[in-house]
Amino acid sequence: MDEATPILTAERLTLTRPDDWHLHLRDGEALKAVLPDTVKRFARAIVMPNLKPPVTTVTQAAAYRQRILAAVPPGPTFTPLMTLYLTDDLPADEIERAIDSGIIHAVKLYPAGATTNSAAGVTDLKKCSATLARMERLGLPLLVHGEVTDPAVDIFDREAVFIERVLTPLLKDFPALKVVLEHVTTQDGVEFVKACGANVAATITAHHLLLNRNAIFAGGIRPHHYCLPVLKRETHRQALLTAATSGNPKFFLGTDSAPHARRTKEAACGCAGCYTAHAGIELYAEAFEQAGALDRLEGFASHFGADFYALPRNTEQITLVRAAWRVPDELPYLADDVLVPLRAGATVGWKLEDMQ
Ligand code: DOR
Ligand code: ZN
Repeated sequence: MDEATPILTAERLTLTRPDDWHLHLRDGEALKAVLPDTVKRFARAIVMPNLKPPVTTVTQAAAYRQRILAAVPPGPTFTPLMTLYLTDDLPADEIERAIDSGIIHAVKLYPAGATTNSAAGVTDLKKCSATLARMERLGLPLLVHGEVTDPAVDIFDREAVFIERVLTPLLKDFPALKVVLEHVTTQDGVEFVKACGANVAATITAHHLLLNRNAIFAGGIRPHHYCLPVLKRETHRQALLTAATSGNPKFFLGTDSAPHARRTKEAACGCAGCYTAHAGIELYAEAFEQAGALDRLEGFASHFGADFYALPRNTEQITLVRAAWRVPDELPYLADDVLVPLRAGATVGWKLEDMQ
């Protein structure tokens, strides 16, 4: 059988081991708690740098990488792909050091104040011109949290306004810059990415493929469905599903799995983030199946991201079995608090078979 063809029967789906191109692993005891979920499923992950304090230097990223590697449980190999956190004063020379290190694969742009641990983010992209020029020249991708922070802009419009006010001018100034519109959530975002050249791509989360904004308010307020960018209306979910299952290599998997302790989610002002790593590939299988496109899952999950980052595709495989399993109500997280995963107490329809 041709290696590139996913083996699909009604009950089993075997595909090249996937990668997660957008992941929050945190640090310390939280890192140790969540990392096994990712390692079981994914060979590599782009690790977000929004720690407290953020990862802004190659030296910090190298130390964080060592802490991640030290926390990898025995079993399949796992390669963390590190990122730097863009600030107003990240020096252009740090980009040179990043390339030389061989461990840094991208730089993350958080508009200041846009989301969790983004206070040190960029206040004005003009301040980053020299650094962006160096990234463009050296081919280091910019990963974008694509939301404006202007409180006058409706929260459901912040991605579309970001595209108009920030992303379009950015790509005019740096037309060859590699850009990933992370966790794209709108039809506007999908259309924008499709209209750009091959240097612009997007990740899509499983929760944005499976849920629309009604899920935040189903029978009461549901803090575990609150993430940023916030879930959008059904037409946008449909546009994401169409893009993800289209076979267009500009769209690939990024879970944005973002753990928060239960008490920080179930609070008067709860944190943004959905934890999905416990079913990090299974949830996508559900979404693709709903769209009648399980045969397109492998390209999206295992090929297109590696191609964009100019990394080799993985050679091992994983197998998913059609079998419903119940997601626990909570997962261990910190010594004094737990984590509530997506689908807590409910079932997921695909199950990961033990690694071959
Ligand atoms: O929901 C989110 N959670 N969105 C982000 O952009 C950050 C993330 C986190 O770090 O918790
Ligand atoms: Zn994220």
